[in-house]
Amino acid sequence: MNNNHSNHSNFTSKIGLILATAGSAVGLGNIWRFPVLAGQNGGGAFLLLYIICVILIGLPLMVGEFAIGRHAQSNTAHAFSKLTSHKIFKNIGRFGVFTGWFILCYYIVVSAWALDYFIDAILGRFSKLAEEGDAQIYATYFKDFVSNPYLPVGYTILFILISHFIIIQGVKRGIEKFAKLMMPLLFIVMLVLTVFSIFTEGAHEGLSFLFKPDFSKITFSTILVAMGQAFFSMSIAMGCLCTFASYFNKEANLIQTAFKVGIIDTVVAIMSGIIIFPAVFSAHFAVDSGASLVFIALPNVFQQVFSHLPILSYIVSILFYFLLVIATLTSVISLHEVPTAFLAEHFKISRKKATSIVTFTVCLFGAICSLSNGPLSDYTLYGKNIFDLFDFLSGQLFLPLGGLLIAIFVGWSMNKTIIHNQLTNFGTIPGRGASTIVFLLKYFIPVITLLIFLSGLNII
Ligand code: TRP
Repeated sequence: MNNNHSNHSNFTSKIGLILATAGSAVGLGNIWRFPVLAGQNGGGAFLLLYIICVILIGLPLMVGEFAIGRHAQSNTAHAFSKLTSHKIFKNIGRFGVFTGWFILCYYIVVSAWALDYFIDAILGRFSKLAEEGDAQIYATYFKDFVSNPYLPVGYTILFILISHFIIIQGVKRGIEKFAKLMMPLLFIVMLVLTVFSIFTEGAHEGLSFLFKPDFSKITFSTILVAMGQAFFSMSIAMGCLCTFASYFNKEANLIQTAFKVGIIDTVVAIMSGIIIFPAVFSAHFAVDSGASLVFIALPNVFQQVFSHLPILSYIVSILFYFLLVIATLTSVISLHEVPTAFLAEHFKISRKKATSIVTFTVCLFGAICSLSNGPLSDYTLYGKNIFDLFDFLSGQLFLPLGGLLIAIFVGWSMNKTIIHNQLTNFGTIPGRGASTIVFLLKYFIPVITLLIFLSGLNII
């Protein structure tokens, strides 16, 4: 992505802008975080709440961010200051910048696990583990890896340096082209695994866990977790998508684009659940252990599904982890962009310097988050280690708060004509759903997010 305003280039094709935006949205949020949270929060009931949050809260917010970004034609922090002189609203952009940096600090740790698993897949380690014949070996393998004092930190630093290099080179548009190719490929590989998974041994139990809602599991904090996850997975509530929308052309239909991105994102999350839960049940892993099911159940899936064709399980596991790394990389770049663009513009420093500052600080805090699964695991607050604390604070505090502020901003402070023009492309398209979206942003979302937020945190 090019952030030079005098040379503000646009996505050339409709499918290009959808896939590039979906590239930011689809990442570890769908494939790693969603199954963990669904496992901990009652499966089907969580999925239902999640889908409701996506439709009623996530999509309108995404449309709102698109409208801000395409109108202001600039990055997050700048877009908000361009549109308002209110001090509080100006600070929403800055809050988004901080949240982006904060999420990146622990996101990068999980990205590093994905990179390690990609290399393990190449080295054929999973088939070696399969020879032991006990599925629990994958859980032990994962725990040993993340608690190792050196390896995960090394990979964390390696991953952020790879992203840094790509950002510095300015080949982000190249990455977007790459994403256009890789996203459909990821989708196809996941679809194949989904179909296989439906026919495995534990499928019945796994699928009914994911699709049969057990409402006794729902509490206010479950709703807060579901809402935070919808924000996380769709890359919303911190203004990240403003930057993307500033590259949309005049003809892009904002409402339709948001719907398509939202559908792709949700389908990927559900597919991830369908692939993982049957495997979790058939291998008798604890579904609510909070452990990263993707890294424990999936290697097992690859070995089981293609057990009579080991070469196929070898190839598919390499392909899957490769695509996971790519999906993660596009999300990391979109997260990195927000603080980088802000530093460069606000302090009038070069992009190179700004990128380096973000990379350096993320390295530092990323290493601390990574170590908190091993040597630093004794440092806890409310029973959470530093890594879990970063996850909790961003998912259940910063993103819900950001969503609330953005809804209030778009619904109450932004000029109505601007929104109308953005949603109907200056009256040239009908902009179906525009009035519902504006209504949701103005009344429903501020009230409901505030209620969910306060009750989820046991404040009311
Ligand atoms: N949505 C990405 C994922 O699911 C993560 C992400 C990228 C993100 N940019 C964001 C989350 C902005 C919140 C805000 O993996």
